[in-house]
Amino acid sequence: MNQEHLSTPAPLRRLFTSYYERMSQGTVEKTYMEPLRKKIVGQAAGLVLEVGAGNGLNFACYDPEFVERVEATELDNSMLSYARARAQSAPVSVTLTQANVEQLPFADAYFDCIVCTLVFCSVNDPLRGLQEMRRVLKPGGQLLMIEHVRAQKRMLALLQDLITPLTRLLLGNCHWNRSTVQTVQEAGFQDIRLEHLTPVGELMPLVIILARG
Ligand SMILES: C[S@@+](CC[C@H](N)C(=O)[O-])C[C@H]1O[C@@H](n2cnc3c(N)ncnc32)[C@H](O)[C@@H]1O
Repeated sequence: MNQEHLSTPAPLRRLFTSYYERMSQGTVEKTYMEPLRKKIVGQAAGLVLEVGAGNGLNFACYDPEFVERVEATELDNSMLSYARARAQSAPVSVTLTQANVEQLPFADAYFDCIVCTLVFCSVNDPLRGLQEMRRVLKPGGQLLMIEHVRAQKRMLALLQDLITPLTRLLLGNCHWNRSTVQTVQEAGFQDIRLEHLTPVGELMPLVIILARG
């Protein structure tokens, strides 16, 4: 599959994947992100789509009592190989497909629930990606997201703007300065509920976004 739109040269993407996999064993992931993943991903139910699954860290968090099965998508080859290994040991059935969230290979109104964590900082066309997610989600279906977003304080947001060319290059097209909540609204999601968190400081605020299709 053509990965051009990932914007980062392939060797740098592979380097980022190795770094991300190493960080997945680190303190921030174990002490902060893992419980957060369990809290949000643990709410998934029915037929679930996970977009931008990365190296598959969410797979262990699905509750087999509520989840029928998971269709997981990821674009990057190097991430997919780690995700495949984690899918094997997941407590629910996970099918992995290489796909771009901007063009999902699923029928309209197909999924009960969509899970998406730390993805929309790096999608090239976030509005198109979120519109695609809304298309494949059943009306009233559940969107469960965790994203890092634009800082609320103006000076910090400006600093994010300055840092972003570097993070795009080195961290897999990651934009530190995105107003993802606004894009979720623009894509037409309803009943949006937010929880703001600053686990690593106000320069990289996280937001939990729960919404309905
Ligand atoms: C920071 S990683 C997060 C991975 C995982 N969701 C997690 O929570 O650990 C961002 C992932 O989004 C994927 N991604 C970026 N743009 C994408 C797109 N257009 N379609 C699908 N996945 C994309 C990247 O390849 C990468 O694996």
